[in-house]
Amino acid sequence: MARFTLPRDIYHGRGTLAVLKELRGHRAMICVGGSTMKKYGFLDKAIAYLREAGMEVEVFGGIEPDPSVETVMRGAEAMLKFQPDWIVAMGGGSPIDAAKAMWVKYEYPEIEFEDMVKVFGLPRLRQKAHFVAIPSTSGTATEVTAFAVITDYQKGIKYPMADFEITPDIAIVDAELADTMPPKLVAHTGMDAMTHAVEAYVSTCAGSYTDGMALLAIEMIKDDLVDSYNGDLKKRGCMHDAQCLAGMAFSNALLGIVHSMAHKTGAVFEDLGAHIIHGAANAMYLPKVIAYNAKVESAAKRYEVIAYHMGIAGATTEESVQNLIAYLRKMNDELNIPQCIKNYGADSYPCEQGFVPETVFLERLPEIAKNAIADACTGSNPRQPNQEEMEKLLKCCYYDLEVDF
Ligand SMILES: NC(=O)c1ccc[n+]([C@@H]2O[C@H](COP(=O)([O-])OP(=O)(O)OC[C@H]3O[C@@H](n4cnc5c(N)ncnc54)[C@H](O)[C@@H]3O)[C@@H](O)[C@H]2O)c1
Ligand SMILES: [Zn+2]
Repeated sequence: MARFTLPRDIYHGRGTLAVLKELRGHRAMICVGGSTMKKYGFLDKAIAYLREAGMEVEVFGGIEPDPSVETVMRGAEAMLKFQPDWIVAMGGGSPIDAAKAMWVKYEYPEIEFEDMVKVFGLPRLRQKAHFVAIPSTSGTATEVTAFAVITDYQKGIKYPMADFEITPDIAIVDAELADTMPPKLVAHTGMDAMTHAVEAYVSTCAGSYTDGMALLAIEMIKDDLVDSYNGDLKKRGCMHDAQCLAGMAFSNALLGIVHSMAHKTGAVFEDLGAHIIHGAANAMYLPKVIAYNAKVESAAKRYEVIAYHMGIAGATTEESVQNLIAYLRKMNDELNIPQCIKNYGADSYPCEQGFVPETVFLERLPEIAKNAIADACTGSNPRQPNQEEMEKLLKCCYYDLEVDF
């Protein structure tokens, strides 16, 4: 049975944070990351609005980027003490994802983390609280998705939680929160959103309910991302909406192997001093995966439709696919994102010799490929890679080689 699930309400546009005044309840717990929301005044505004609604408010702060299982457990404990009937998560994907996981543990204190990450295996939520998500980055779209990503640092593994139970009740997509993003964050989260939309459109689970949103998101990101990166705040607002549309599509159509590869390469070189940031990994791998998937005719036709909607279609399907690949690579250049792992510096910018040495990459390649194949996002990719193909594909992503298989 196919299912299409979104938040009950999505408020969008500048100033919509004020809708918090309209909530009806007793106690709201606000979950935030480091200091960004406080620094720019959004946390104080949210507190004031919720108090205006007659609610008692408590803040759970300090949620780190790529949140840990321990943070989730601490947050759930704070919720058990405070007994909120609203959870209000504000910030980037990290605090919102963490708050989703805290919500599950708050509703079911006995549940173990291993059971929380069973795909589509969560018990019914909303027995104790409803959930509002307010994004301050323009990429993950976790405010509308059925996913959360939590990291078990002891095992060194990122666990995706996936269940429509954790799709928020209310999303507030207020572009004012995105104004303060530094350019690098705009670039990475924006290409994450582009990858969500492209992967959702070619996913084997794509269909009439998701295609329109995916295509529109792609058009908008093509038109708005680079200008937003260069400081155009009107376009920044368009990107905030575009990433949300992409999220609505991929939450229901799922993703593909760009994400499988990004998940498994993100933290695996951490001992060398850096992460490969999620959005940057997607940006580097997407053109390679398009070339690989396009060997399947039905996928190639879908990429052709994307190229048509972007206004870059060629005379043949093959030419359209090539134009799409070239366009995405041009965007990477304009956004100062490298084209391959070899040129990925520890600061995420392009450089001659990146932070991942060739020898280390080759040594870890078989394990990375195996893990990428096993990733939850691989199942909905239009072409299923075997170990040899995945290794070849990852090599193309390391050396920036043409994909000819
Ligand atoms: N749930 C999903 O559907 C989904 C999808 C894709 C990725 N993810 C996960 O989301 C996380 C990444 O989220 P993210 O890319 O939004 O970044 P993030 O939440 O990790 O934040 C990155 C940094 O940006 C800062 N920041 C956030 N908003 C800002 C603003 N408006 N101005 C200035 N600085 C700001 C934060 O303080 C932080 O230091 C990863 O853990 C990733 O795995 C989740
Ligand atoms: Zn992503």
